[in-house]
Amino acid sequence: MAKQKTKTFRLLKHQVDFINDTQHRIVGLVGGFRAGKTVAAVHKALKLAFLNKGLHGALMEPVQSMIRGTLMPVVDLVFKQHYGWTERSGQNPHGEYTYRKSNPESLVIHFKEGDTIIYLCGMENYSRLAGKTLAWFVADEVDRCKTKEIALAAFKEATARLTAGPCVQGCVTSTPEGFHFLHHYFVENGFDEKQQPRTDRKLYKAKTQDNPYVPSSYIKGIRTNYTPKQAEAYLNGDFINMATGNVYYAFDRELNSTKKTIQDFRNTVLYVGMDFNVEQMSAVILAHDPMIGHTYVLEEITDEKNTESMIRRLKADYAHWAQYPKGITIYPDSSGKSATANASMSSIALLKQAGFECVYKGNNPSIMKERVPAVNAQFSSQKLVNGEWVNTQKLFVNIEKCPVLVKGLEQQGFGPDGKPDKAGGLDHCLDALGYPIAHLFPVPGKGSISVYR
Ligand SMILES: Nc1ncnc2c1ncn2[C@@H]1O[C@H](COP(=O)(O)OP(=O)(O)O)[C@@H](O)[C@H]1O
Ligand SMILES: [Mg+2]
Repeated sequence: MAKQKTKTFRLLKHQVDFINDTQHRIVGLVGGFRAGKTVAAVHKALKLAFLNKGLHGALMEPVQSMIRGTLMPVVDLVFKQHYGWTERSGQNPHGEYTYRKSNPESLVIHFKEGDTIIYLCGMENYSRLAGKTLAWFVADEVDRCKTKEIALAAFKEATARLTAGPCVQGCVTSTPEGFHFLHHYFVENGFDEKQQPRTDRKLYKAKTQDNPYVPSSYIKGIRTNYTPKQAEAYLNGDFINMATGNVYYAFDRELNSTKKTIQDFRNTVLYVGMDFNVEQMSAVILAHDPMIGHTYVLEEITDEKNTESMIRRLKADYAHWAQYPKGITIYPDSSGKSATANASMSSIALLKQAGFECVYKGNNPSIMKERVPAVNAQFSSQKLVNGEWVNTQKLFVNIEKCPVLVKGLEQQGFGPDGKPDKAGGLDHCLDALGYPIAHLFPVPGKGSISVYR
């Protein structure tokens, strides 16, 4: 028989506000990374299950695999440690709940009034909710759905499934991802025709720092690995549209410039980022100083027409480095691994045959989630100096030697699809820079809680 909370466990203020709000039809909790959103989401689901005994609900994550990866560890924590429940099994017929792995993936709470099903559903699989009758739903990390359209469609389906019950409610939580679902629903559409706040919805907000259980090393990791603008969004839970203005907004031609040249790095290996384009190959030549963690973009090559001539150029201009094994490491566009119709050997195969070390993965790192944030974070992030966070730079460009790259850094905007604009051909050198930077200095994954521990 499912019993009410037995263990003493203190929820945080923003969690209490979000969980106890049973007035608004739609309640949201926007917050920084690790602000306590998922814990709040599971407590909210249980509160709604208690209020609507015998009626069913849904707990959602953006994709089905996050149910087991992200949600179930928190379900275990809340059910077992906070509520003192046990899982029902052959040996434990009086357990308070059952977890079903499939058909459909769900939790069943065994109330004495009857069983309540909590469907566990990936938002991208929202069609699985069709035909179900729900009293409530809680969708965690709604802004991390692949697109705003998926989040909107899942939300529409889930709200359409809501029927009568003692407390009918739809709830969403997330770290904001620019102008995604939460911004659309609570900000853009938060007011009625008379510009009055809509009374059917309410958004609560929390910062990472509001959760005292988050170690300071975690916050430090965010500040040192993201740009100040992005760190604010991720720690404060602010809506900041990253897909507007300059793509490489963190680049500053004064702060990020260097007078160093390739000759200053005769004892250092060179990293070469390379983008393959017929008639317009692009490469950038980088050197890294591990003592101070700085990386320098020293030269660019934009006038070679094919991979063979690029190889000749590298061997001629960088002969000093090429004479050593691994003296030059190339980070190529990974699509260059396939042979094309007019070339029997792929570009990457040619580079390898010429003796160059090539580092790449099966797919290129994502432009919006990995390359652009990594490059921007190298241009500007934060460090602690005498107890204060100050802006710092880790990536520097020789402006005179890299005019095409600098033009792209200063001028590339976003296209109508919200991705960096390819018109004008500014993208090739920028792509060449993004491959090595995303490989060498990746931004931490958002879900990865292990990174800082
Ligand atoms: N009220 C609380 N008391 C103690 N620990 C908490 C509380 N709320 C959250 N936590 C812990 O803080 C960490 C982050 O919580 P989580 O809900 O996963 O954050 P988010 O979903 O916002 O990233 C987890 O380790 C979680 O167990
Ligand atoms: Mg979470």
